[in-house]
Amino acid sequence: MNPPAYVKHARLKAWVEDMVALCKPDQVYWCDGSEEEYQRLCQQLVDAGTFKKLNPAKRPNSFLACSDPSDVARVEDRTYICSEKKEDAGPTNNWMDPGEMRSTLQPLFDGCMTGRTMYVVPFSMGPLGSPIAHIGIELSDSAYVAVNQRIMTRMGRAVFDVLGEDGDFVPCVHTVGAPLTAGQKDVAWPCNSTKYIVHYPRTREIWSYGSGYGGNALLGKKCFALRIASNMGRDQGWLAEHMLILGLTSPQGKKFHVAAAFPSACGKTNFSMLVPPAGFDGWKVTTIGDDIAWIKPSSNGDLRAINPEAGYFGVAPGTNFHTNPNCMASLDKNVIFTNVALTDDGDVWWEGMEKDTGHLPDHLIDWQGKDWTPAIAKETGAKAAHPNARFTVAATNNPALDSAWDDAAGVKIDAFIFGGRRSTTVPLVTQARNWTEGVYMAATMGSETTAAAAGQQGVVRRDPFAMLPFMGYNMSDYFQHWLNMGDTLKSTGARLPAIFCVNWFRKGDDGKFVWPGYGENMRVLKWMIDRIEGQAKGRENVFGISPNYEEITWTGLDFTPQQFQTVTHIDKAAWVEELKLHEVLFTQLAYHLPAELTATKTAIALRLDA
Ligand code: GTP
Ligand code: SPV
Ligand code: MN
Repeated sequence: MNPPAYVKHARLKAWVEDMVALCKPDQVYWCDGSEEEYQRLCQQLVDAGTFKKLNPAKRPNSFLACSDPSDVARVEDRTYICSEKKEDAGPTNNWMDPGEMRSTLQPLFDGCMTGRTMYVVPFSMGPLGSPIAHIGIELSDSAYVAVNQRIMTRMGRAVFDVLGEDGDFVPCVHTVGAPLTAGQKDVAWPCNSTKYIVHYPRTREIWSYGSGYGGNALLGKKCFALRIASNMGRDQGWLAEHMLILGLTSPQGKKFHVAAAFPSACGKTNFSMLVPPAGFDGWKVTTIGDDIAWIKPSSNGDLRAINPEAGYFGVAPGTNFHTNPNCMASLDKNVIFTNVALTDDGDVWWEGMEKDTGHLPDHLIDWQGKDWTPAIAKETGAKAAHPNARFTVAATNNPALDSAWDDAAGVKIDAFIFGGRRSTTVPLVTQARNWTEGVYMAATMGSETTAAAAGQQGVVRRDPFAMLPFMGYNMSDYFQHWLNMGDTLKSTGARLPAIFCVNWFRKGDDGKFVWPGYGENMRVLKWMIDRIEGQAKGRENVFGISPNYEEITWTGLDFTPQQFQTVTHIDKAAWVEELKLHEVLFTQLAYHLPAELTATKTAIALRLDA
């Protein structure tokens, strides 16, 4: 029950005491982050039926968890930004008055951990003790959360050394919302049909109720590193973004760093681990982060980025040696899998792995514990793995990990990329002519929805900066913050990062992707570097600069000028329709919408008309 002697932070101890009084757990356990503790908690999860230990000969020290079928993804409609005023949460967020939310949550949290253990999980987002890192303490009644947090963050005892007697931390309270009465048998994946994922930006608090899955429960990730951190960033002059960060080294040894924002399940993990294809001998891509970037301006006008996370919580389906060999290599040991299928020899399987083996397995246990065979799949369409099935793995498992991934000073960003999933309209790659045009591209980005978001799949929704589900304040104020950051950087006289928008997902008349994607995206990345280095001229279109066919390195890929035309041409009629959708977005975001963005839209409309 009592905190270990090394915890010297009176305010923190008092807060834990208050939360214990509220949640009424049977026990309190302070995590130290040790390997011994990790193994013990994993074994406990095996004993409870939450984890299945995988065959150590196939997948050493790895586990499979299958969630309740009702608890498989983030719940955007249950996520709240409880700012003092509704306008400060903005039209894209759910809002409730903080006082009203507190009264709503109070009875739910009262006794919510009865019969369970409260884990006290100390974690640092960013390298321990780094001036750009921030600390959180998550109280959770889920051992699954504790072991995942050990992989996803710098978790453990050392956090208390950094905190000292009075350091700042973000308090995060999480419960699966399933108290146990005396003698009641637990289920493998406790959760509650009532769910609340709540943020109080003013007091920088996070309260999560009813879900044990991903971003709903691993509170360092979206809740802290994006929603709360975006508020910190606005107040303190930096950016918290839904971006991967990669390093790109040329054969001459020149190194570039790129940060890219794609919506959930649109290829960030893939892109961050890209393996250059034939024709790119000597080029190397290395991973700094695969999901979140914290970006701070330095006094000389550089933008420095760090990955606040320490692991990857990535989408499993579709990952194979063809699409992402570095990722597959990362998953060979020490992994927690969630909602993938179990093979008869105690290994894991998901849709897409048949591309490596050339055939489907004869038999599996699917993510819901049911028998799966190719015949059943053909008849019922049943997926062996849930489309949002994920792996949790330490960054240090990644063979392409960048040597600076853990550097407290971060890396200098040379380019930003924004991209959604669009089967039509948006071309393969366009460079913004200036910062404002880049902010416009990012602000108006759209994407066809995937399994990560509730609701209908395949419809285009606007997802500004890939931040729609993660924005911690009013979206238009965030656009203004980006514009202001540009002004701040310009005032130093420094060269600003280039901004590009990409779309790997344009489809042909046959309904298939035209662009081969994955490793081949290197060809687009190379053109971007050529632009930055002044070695590709490009040509102007209505909303930016696009490549000429000859400016792309095609060695090793058979991609005709006609195919190139299919993925790059700008259909004027489609763009007239597209601009109408930008107008709908701007109408929704009218409050505090920066005038520069409206002006940029008008300028594009005029060029379209010409
Ligand atoms: P979150 O973790 O949800 O934020 O997502 P992410 O952006 O990291 O997504 P991830 O890299 O896991 O993307 C997974 C999906 O994108 C899979 O369906 C992939 O097959 C698909 N994908 C990734 N890169 C490409 C590409 O270049 N082309 C095509 N067509 N699909 C891609
Ligand atoms: C996303 O949905 O963008 C994720 C997964 O990265 S989760 O952490 O569950 O939000
Ligand atoms: Mn994400």
